[in-house]
Amino acid sequence: MDKIKKITLSENEIPEHWYNIQADMPNPMLPPLHPGTKQPIGPEDLAPIFPMELIKQEVSKERYIEIPDEVREVYKLWRPSPLYRAYNLEKALDTPAKIYYKNEGVSPAGSHKPNTAVAQAYFNKAEGVKRLTTETGAGQWGSALAFACQVFGIELEVYMVKVSYEQKPYRKLMMNTWGANVFSSPTNITEAGKKILSEDPNSPGSLGIAISEAVERAATNEDTKYSLGSVLNHVLMHQTVIGQEAIKQFEKAGDFPDIIIAPFGGGSNFAGISFPFLRYNLAEGKNIRCIAVEPASCPKLTRGEFRYDFGDSVGLTPLLPMYTLGHTFVPAPIHAGGLRYHGAGVIISQLLKDKLIEAKALHQLECFEAGVKFANAEGIIPAPETTHGIAQVIREAEQAKKEGKSKTILFNLSGHGYFDMSAYQDYFDGKLEDHELSDDELYAGIKELNLHPLQ
Ligand SMILES: Cc1ncc(COP(=O)(O)O)c(C=O)c1O
Repeated sequence: MDKIKKITLSENEIPEHWYNIQADMPNPMLPPLHPGTKQPIGPEDLAPIFPMELIKQEVSKERYIEIPDEVREVYKLWRPSPLYRAYNLEKALDTPAKIYYKNEGVSPAGSHKPNTAVAQAYFNKAEGVKRLTTETGAGQWGSALAFACQVFGIELEVYMVKVSYEQKPYRKLMMNTWGANVFSSPTNITEAGKKILSEDPNSPGSLGIAISEAVERAATNEDTKYSLGSVLNHVLMHQTVIGQEAIKQFEKAGDFPDIIIAPFGGGSNFAGISFPFLRYNLAEGKNIRCIAVEPASCPKLTRGEFRYDFGDSVGLTPLLPMYTLGHTFVPAPIHAGGLRYHGAGVIISQLLKDKLIEAKALHQLECFEAGVKFANAEGIIPAPETTHGIAQVIREAEQAKKEGKSKTILFNLSGHGYFDMSAYQDYFDGKLEDHELSDDELYAGIKELNLHPLQ
């Protein structure tokens, strides 16, 4: 009985602050630019779509920002989330590596996304906002925000990427249960959606397109604001409760990670688990490897370019300096819907450019194989997005075995896959393929950016 499997904290150990890595970054980020004037934007440019408190957080250089009591109170429903030692996976891999995972699948919506959804709904409510709009890929973000809006009594409109809307009817029903209106994007409701449909009536949709629709609705309705589930600085910051808890849990376990791994869509779960640890690298000279894992069919970090680009497909958002495949890039309809995004968070992009973090791209068959291996060893069936992190964990554990070294690996189990069983069915039925992205396909989106590369 002396092996501790699950390292828990009590409710009063929920972090009292979010960690803002902007305070510790060695190189400042380039400013976001106005899509029309191409000049740096100010807070007033964002005011039509975001509440002022979140805009302030977006640009803040304060190292720690207090989490309101009302938000910590809602976090108590599932936080602090448990840190597990994956003994059975270690045994199955016959590796000397020690593997730990933080289980964010225990939240009401089943992923890390409520950590920011609750904060965003709270700050919008505090400023009198009546309705929020948002996009969702796999449905994880939409359901997280639907839950949070229900808690604070705000209406919600969700633009759900068409391919996911069709693959994941139960995610849609979760959102409906929490009172949200859900549309299959592209829709005929917005000018952005109509434009996409006129060019391609069978468009499978993408996160970029759904963002265009949601932003347009917020920008054209006085009582409505927009909420984003990743990419932006304040969203990444809200997720740092994950890593801060993990630091305390590692103290209890008497261990410390050498490698931190997380799947990568826009960067929020990766930031959440890694940024509080990255502070040890930036401020104390430690050398923890932090690895973001993206799908090989949507490889912005590993094959994209560092450029100013739009956050959405139609070009309504500010221009952001980030690794991108071009805002018109439509990724193959893989099952990890939450990773089908053309760009990356600005902070993450700067850290990658400065070689302070690493990125890997993996094919989906290896990821599903890893997901099944994990489910058989540890019991939890991971979300398709999450399997990307697990596949890289297995690679690192196998490398440790080859080198005969005991590395300590931490990964973020960003969500469970209980609403993604049709994806597992396609995998078991042999219907999934690895999509090899040609250079021509890859550069089609980047070529359309007629701005200059920034490097
Ligand atoms: C379970 C899960 N993991 C990871 C991601 C990737 O997003 P991000 O990079 O913002 O964490 C998503 C996005 O929807 C998700 O649903």
